[in-house]
Amino acid sequence: MKNDEELPETANERIGWAYKVADNATRTEARFDAWAERYDDDVANLLNWQGPAELAKVVARHVAPGGYIHDAGAGTGLLGEILAASGYRNLTAGDLSQSMLDIAATKQVYVELHKSNLMEPLEFPDRHFDAVVSVGTSGYISGEVFREITRIVRPKGHIIYTISDNRYSEGGFDNVVDTLCKEGVLEIVEIGHQFAAIPLSDPNHMTRVHVLRRLM
Ligand SMILES: C[S@@+](CC[C@H](N)C(=O)[O-])C[C@H]1O[C@@H](n2cnc3c(N)ncnc32)[C@H](O)[C@@H]1O
Repeated sequence: MKNDEELPETANERIGWAYKVADNATRTEARFDAWAERYDDDVANLLNWQGPAELAKVVARHVAPGGYIHDAGAGTGLLGEILAASGYRNLTAGDLSQSMLDIAATKQVYVELHKSNLMEPLEFPDRHFDAVVSVGTSGYISGEVFREITRIVRPKGHIIYTISDNRYSEGGFDNVVDTLCKEGVLEIVEIGHQFAAIPLSDPNHMTRVHVLRRLM
């Protein structure tokens, strides 16, 4: 039997294994570092991860192709690849795991890649991006990150991310979004339809794309 720090045998087990330490950034980073080489084959090919394609469709409705977009928790750049194929060129990537970013870099779709922790202050100036997008990361962060993410989005810019209904309340996203809306900082633009995130692994794991707009 493998010890718990070793990469498990199957793609299905690897998803749960990475998520199991989601409350600890150091351990999460180590697990994604260990998984990076096999991540695309597991997630995109074997498990048919739908998040990047679903999120990209929503980005196309809200962000012009010339827009400056930060992909927060970009991982190996699955979303960046789709956005680049749709004509988006001003993409930056951030992620906790350098090994995931190293794979993303090989795809040559991001103009910059930053190793960064979304739970800490981000290195970008205020009002820098037309949009911050994030797919498949909400289980690893809490709603508090929206204050910092909002800071780096320009007024009228968007925050577009995937999240399950359970995680929205459990991670405190509902409270933070509600507070920022009441403060007149953000508005909810749309909450999309539910879709099965990883249909070949867990057809019952449903998620949605949420769209927020910065007001001021
Ligand atoms: C399930 S993967 C999703 C990656 C990519 N967005 C995709 O759709 O394939 C979660 C990613 O979030 C990153 N991550 C987890 N916690 C993070 C944090 N606190 N700050 C930045 N990235 C984080 C992990 O390193 C990993 O690359």
